[in-house]
Amino acid sequence: MSYLFTDNLTKYLESHTMDRHFIFKEMELFAGERDYPIIGPQVGQLLYILTKIAKAKHVFEVGSGFGYSALWFAIAMEENGTVICTEYDEKNINRGKDFLRSIDTLRARIEFRSGNGIDLLNESNDQYDIIFNDANKEDYPKIFEIAKNKLKKGGLLIADNVLWRGQVTDSEPDNKTSGVIQYNKAIFESEDFFSSIIPIRDGVSVSIKLT
Ligand SMILES: C[S@@+](CC[C@H](N)C(=O)[O-])C[C@H]1O[C@@H](n2cnc3c(N)ncnc32)[C@H](O)[C@@H]1O
Repeated sequence: MSYLFTDNLTKYLESHTMDRHFIFKEMELFAGERDYPIIGPQVGQLLYILTKIAKAKHVFEVGSGFGYSALWFAIAMEENGTVICTEYDEKNINRGKDFLRSIDTLRARIEFRSGNGIDLLNESNDQYDIIFNDANKEDYPKIFEIAKNKLKKGGLLIADNVLWRGQVTDSEPDNKTSGVIQYNKAIFESEDFFSSIIPIRDGVSVSIKLT
């Protein structure tokens, strides 16, 4: 997907992806055949770098699907790191477990929790190095309100689709678009965070918690 770049530039960007574990490729194929929205390798590589820089050990995802984005976090972490995946569609969780079955070391770092990721994050007593938001777009503002108290100082709040196919500039935004617009407003207005929007794929925001 790219509406941000010319076709040639899109092809160029897509041709600059790192060699990756075969499970990523299997998941990409599966998602492509079903038109299921995963972050894809360009955003995955960014998550990998951010995880390494942050030396992240505890990651929480809201909206995990079958674990493609979680795998990018898991592969970049130290051995004792954990990624908590949340997903309310059991079919996706089971698919994720099937994909990970053959890779013991990485599987041990990924924990699937079934249910609404917002509630599961709210109920969690832990503080995280990274919270990744890839849930329903209407949920984005609420996720910010909860995530801001669940991150360590210096932790990263990362969100996918923050340009929402360019609809964030619509004069009469629908509910999903309004969710993304409110989220972007909140991360840039908050004195507790320093944020940047990176225009790759559908836009990724990265916000570091300052306090
Ligand atoms: C964009 S997909 C996630 C893709 C995944 N992050 C990846 O790139 O591999 C969104 C998924 O989140 C789930 N979802 C959306 N909002 C959720 C919420 N509030 N709690 C739990 N799951 C949610 C949907 O069922 C869907 O499978």
